[in-house]
Amino acid sequence: MPETSGLVKKKRRIAVRPAVLEDAHAMWETDQACFEPSVAYPEDIFYYHLLILHDPAFVAYEGNSMAGFVLTSLENGATGLIVTIDVMPRWRRQGLASSLMQKAEDAMRLKDISSIILQVAVDNDAALGFYKKRGYYRIKQLVDYYGKGRHAYLFKKPLAKKQAAGI
Ligand SMILES: CC(C)(COP(=O)(O)OP(=O)(O)OC[C@H]1O[C@@H](n2cnc3c(N)ncnc32)[C@H](O)[C@@H]1OP(=O)(O)O)[C@@H](O)C(=O)NCCC(=O)NCCS
Repeated sequence: MPETSGLVKKKRRIAVRPAVLEDAHAMWETDQACFEPSVAYPEDIFYYHLLILHDPAFVAYEGNSMAGFVLTSLENGATGLIVTIDVMPRWRRQGLASSLMQKAEDAMRLKDISSIILQVAVDNDAALGFYKKRGYYRIKQLVDYYGKGRHAYLFKKPLAKKQAAGI
């Protein structure tokens, strides 16, 4: 049994803010740390989304070190895409991805996005658990999406409009 068995793990809080162009390099470094090289995104992708497309993205830092980020894409009309959401290992299970995702969903809602899609590897248990908890569900399997024999699921979540206060 682990030493901490029976103890409730206290969740730490960290501030989340919109990403700016200067965050692109740290986002790439974080993605490199979270995924193997064949799956991680090239650095250009982060500059493309932040500089050219101005897609909603959010970041959190612990001092000068990035703790996590989320990057979206609004290229497909009313359907938004979660390009990726990455939290550094020491910050996991503290609610950081939940805070990042909430900001991303709220920002997409403001842009009249009515549903969100994403791809997730079939063996990424942490991400599968995370997305299911947030109301995303499986649409179909994407065979060989990450390379031969490395399948993904396409997940989707309808984005309900938030009621204005008092209505
Ligand atoms: C998936 C990931 C973003 C989750 O980040 P996180 O900050 O740890 O997530 P949260 O703390 O907000 O977790 C919220 C809920 O998601 C679920 N969840 C998170 N991690 C989980 C895990 N390892 N196993 C099962 N469920 C998990 C739980 O229901 C959790 O609630 P709980 O901690 O109260 O039980 C993180 O594990 C990560 O960065 N992984 C590597 C990158 C990655 O795979 N990104 C997804 C790309 S498709």
